[in-house]
Amino acid sequence: MKASAKAPSNIAFIKYWGKKDPKINLPENGSLAVCLDGMGTVTTVDFSDQYEADSVVIDGQTENIELGRVQKHIDLIREMAQINTSVKVISQNSFPHSSGLASSASGFAALSMAGAKAAGLDLDQKQLSILARHGSGSAARSVPDGFVEWYQGKDDQSSYAYSMFPPDYWDLAAVAVLVTKQKKDVSTTTGHSLTSSSPFYQTRLAGIPNRIEQMKQAIKERDIEKFGQILEEEVLSFTAVNLTLNPYVLYLEPATIQVMKLCQKLRDEGLQAYFTFDAGPQPVVYCLGKDVAEIAKRLGQTEGVIQTIVNHPTVGTHLTDEHLF
Ligand code: PMV
Repeated sequence: MKASAKAPSNIAFIKYWGKKDPKINLPENGSLAVCLDGMGTVTTVDFSDQYEADSVVIDGQTENIELGRVQKHIDLIREMAQINTSVKVISQNSFPHSSGLASSASGFAALSMAGAKAAGLDLDQKQLSILARHGSGSAARSVPDGFVEWYQGKDDQSSYAYSMFPPDYWDLAAVAVLVTKQKKDVSTTTGHSLTSSSPFYQTRLAGIPNRIEQMKQAIKERDIEKFGQILEEEVLSFTAVNLTLNPYVLYLEPATIQVMKLCQKLRDEGLQAYFTFDAGPQPVVYCLGKDVAEIAKRLGQTEGVIQTIVNHPTVGTHLTDEHLF
């Protein structure tokens, strides 16, 4: 059977960094994020006896660093559905692939929903979030709508994401900034596995529950200043850990730092702009929807910036009739 799904990416406010159980992507801490409309993935999955072998095409290519993980995820779906039929998968990202802009989150969320449906599984949102988490932890957060929390959980079934607020709850916007097209040299998987080597990691973890509560309160109150302060405090704590890993990991490029400095300058001018980034050099600037055009323009004029992508909060992963084959 054939099915297609469309999934948004999500960029975390409070980061998932470190795995308690790498086999099932059980995180060391809970996290918060929002689903974004400007960067997503559409995936079509077809399980059929007409295929002699599995085939997977991502962004028009059969060679991809994610292929091993994709194959493992398809095997998991087949095992859940108790089938051994071959599969054809075609997946298309709406943004530069392997750019460090959360492609694994939208990619594994879309693959989970389309794959589960195509395999004849009937999963609810919580079960889909758990399935997506197996592919890539952050994909758990791309399943529900809008502003999401991923519960750390104690085991496989208690670690999933849910929607705290719908996308239209707050007119927040995010400008994703592309500062390099080079692939990052330290994968996210490696980063997760090194976390415990930082002397600051336990201190970071100890502060997360309180930071999550503060951040949830800022979102509830739609308080951009409080939100932004916690957002930057969080990504700097994440960076402090990365700089003190053994071996250390430096994700930032000079243009990332230019963007961090620009945010401060914009705030001095009265525009509320706050930075974050994931395990890579591409910054994402959060701001209010009313300011996003001006902020995206200023970011576009910054030295080293290749491209900007404007995003607004959006719904989570859903089925679509727009099949890719
Ligand atoms: O889902 P993964 O394994 O690609 O890990 C994502 C880790 C960060 O992007 C750095 C943080 C996050 O919460 O998305």
